[in-house]
Amino acid sequence: MCDRETLTRSLYFRHACKRFDPERKLPEADLRFILEAARLAPSAFGMEAWRFLVIRDPELKATLRPVCWDQPQITECSDLVVILGQIASVADPEYYSAMFRRRGLSEEATRAYIRRYEEYIGKLHSIQGWVAKQCYIAADHMMVYASLIGVDSCPIEGFEPRKVDKILGLDRKKERSVLLLPLGYRLQEPREKKRRPFEEVVTFL
Ligand SMILES: Cc1cc2nc3c(=O)[nH]c(=O)nc-3n(C[C@H](O)[C@H](O)[C@H](O)COP(=O)(O)O)c2cc1C
Repeated sequence: MCDRETLTRSLYFRHACKRFDPERKLPEADLRFILEAARLAPSAFGMEAWRFLVIRDPELKATLRPVCWDQPQITECSDLVVILGQIASVADPEYYSAMFRRRGLSEEATRAYIRRYEEYIGKLHSIQGWVAKQCYIAADHMMVYASLIGVDSCPIEGFEPRKVDKILGLDRKKERSVLLLPLGYRLQEPREKKRRPFEEVVTFL
């Protein structure tokens, strides 16, 4: 495990990187480490309703950039991770039953889980919103673990999901882009971190 000092340094190292050095590519092992952090992220009911597309092709990045508010990170990063929320699978009994069955619990306990799950998702306002929340957790896992190995990132919500999904050839009934996460190395040092004071955002009761 890491000591607090190392982890604090990493908290300050991580920032929303605006300009990546287009010449620097991520080593394959580092990219895989970051994606593994996403795969191991927690998700509600353990549904893992996500998929990660890793875009490296410069032409595809260039096609995506105009529908991503023309943000330079899209084309300048080493690897562009597109986090997809799998909206269909969470409502598919075959999928979610298998996700509960893999736990190896008794039949009775498994059925109870499934019942509770069905009741829960039946009451959800928006399945898409719920799935997106899980994807953001996976995104944060990637950002945190990337920073621990000196890799920069930038969460990007500034894009047109329908257009991105069309370019990527996604079936929007099944899965949709939720967040983009360019990875790479900073071109310049970030500005000083601005945050509200600890006492203002934390209350001990
Ligand atoms: C969900 C989400 C969406 C964001 N979308 C963008 C974006 O489209 N473009 C961008 O440059 N930064 C984006 N940001 C980065 C934030 O602006 C940034 O995290 C915030 O200003 C704090 O700065 P820091 O991360 O450098 O500490 C996004 C952050 C989050 C969490």
